[in-house]
Amino acid sequence: MAVISAHCPDIKVVVVDINKGKINAWNSDNLENLPVFEPGLKEVVKKQRNKNLFFSCDIKNAISEADMVFISVNTPTKKKGLGAGYASDLKWVESSAREVAKYSKGHTIVVEKSTVPVRTSELIKEILEGVSKNETGKNEKSFAVLSSPEFLAEGTAIKDLENPDRVLIGGDDINAINQLSKIYENWIPKYKILLTNVWSSELSKLTANAFLAQRVTSINSISALCEPTGAEIKEVASAIGYDSRIGDKFLSAGPGFGGSCFQKDILNLVYLCRYYGLKEVANYWEQVITLNNWQRRRISNLIIEKFYGSVSLKKILILGFAFKANTNDTRESSAISISKDLIENGAQLIIHDPQVKPKQIEYEMGQEINDSSTEGGWQFSKDIYESAIDADALVILTEWETYNNIDWEKLFKIMRRPAWIFDTRNIVPKKKVEILGFKFWGLGKSVIN
Ligand code: UGA
Repeated sequence: MAVISAHCPDIKVVVVDINKGKINAWNSDNLENLPVFEPGLKEVVKKQRNKNLFFSCDIKNAISEADMVFISVNTPTKKKGLGAGYASDLKWVESSAREVAKYSKGHTIVVEKSTVPVRTSELIKEILEGVSKNETGKNEKSFAVLSSPEFLAEGTAIKDLENPDRVLIGGDDINAINQLSKIYENWIPKYKILLTNVWSSELSKLTANAFLAQRVTSINSISALCEPTGAEIKEVASAIGYDSRIGDKFLSAGPGFGGSCFQKDILNLVYLCRYYGLKEVANYWEQVITLNNWQRRRISNLIIEKFYGSVSLKKILILGFAFKANTNDTRESSAISISKDLIENGAQLIIHDPQVKPKQIEYEMGQEINDSSTEGGWQFSKDIYESAIDADALVILTEWETYNNIDWEKLFKIMRRPAWIFDTRNIVPKKKVEILGFKFWGLGKSVIN
């Protein structure tokens, strides 16, 4: 929305939320307090806020003044009830649609931005049409519903929004499609704006995420085969990436994909396939999740095995807790399950992340910071070198730029021998650290000497 406001000075953008704390943070004078860390975001907010970009809890007014409403709420995996563990929970989409139905005036275009299961627009339409007829008696209100899923990735959100590969608009109301397209055309070439029917649009979003997650899982699965065979995952990824049919992007092996979207969207796809009787298709996609969990477990097991089966009271420095670099988002981060596994085995973790706050880690771990030296706890690291004193190992889980500049010589001097490095993101200079004396394991790197 901030990027829309930057490119469309004549459009007033109002972002509303029921969460007062969040809205206050978006309005905070100190731009470091914005609820989301995203490179380039605070600059856009600073430029546009209170000009044509507003953050408010006054949902009623904002909707009644709006010509177009974007529904951009969470659609997490259902925790209970029908489809629990797989289907997306649409309660926020539904309640947003009800608010729009209640407060809108005249004609309103409703744009589904959240990632939703196929045919959700039908649900929105039903709510909008039902309420407009029942409450007013006559059709004082009218609506057009479009789907326009978001393809930005965290950490590169502003870049992705400024220069997207494509924008998708699904719907059948030509007037509404044109109005939404006109907004995007302020900065996006028209050939990149794709028009489809509403269900193709909804399904394309789920499919894009499923394909991306599958690709990461594919390269991760090969990383496991590289290690015992003498192949190097970076060389394999580069070699296959030269094939223009495969392409070279999204082929970095890692500790398993995280983030709020991939797992949720695949589970949703699995649910939809089962619902439509496509058991084999559902099983195929579910395997991506199974393998992703396996990769995480493989890493924690391997660390434990390198310590001859016990990490009890071992001091292990975890570098990176966010699910990827350049974000403070920890949702579904592989660091969560790997850290929990190590703690369950008695390790004392010291967790470092340049953007994630200790409170957030506490929430994800379901365990408070533990300052004592008892088995199976964790502490927060403010300084890598201080935390590395007498550490038995360090594990790189997020590919933060700052970890490329670690002074390995300094670390080796202060860590306890045998001083292990486990690099799950392939950013550590293997030869250099081995010469210094570290024991080293790198994901997808040959273990044959
Ligand atoms: C993903 C999609 O990339 C976006 O297109 C989509 O809009 C978004 O989900 C969404 O549905 O909202 P995001 O989850 O923010 O974006 O981040 P990604 O860059 O896709 O990374 C996801 C996970 O895969 C991360 O844990 C990352 O470390 C991992 N990954 C990614 C790898 O391990 N290797 C790679 O080569 C790429």
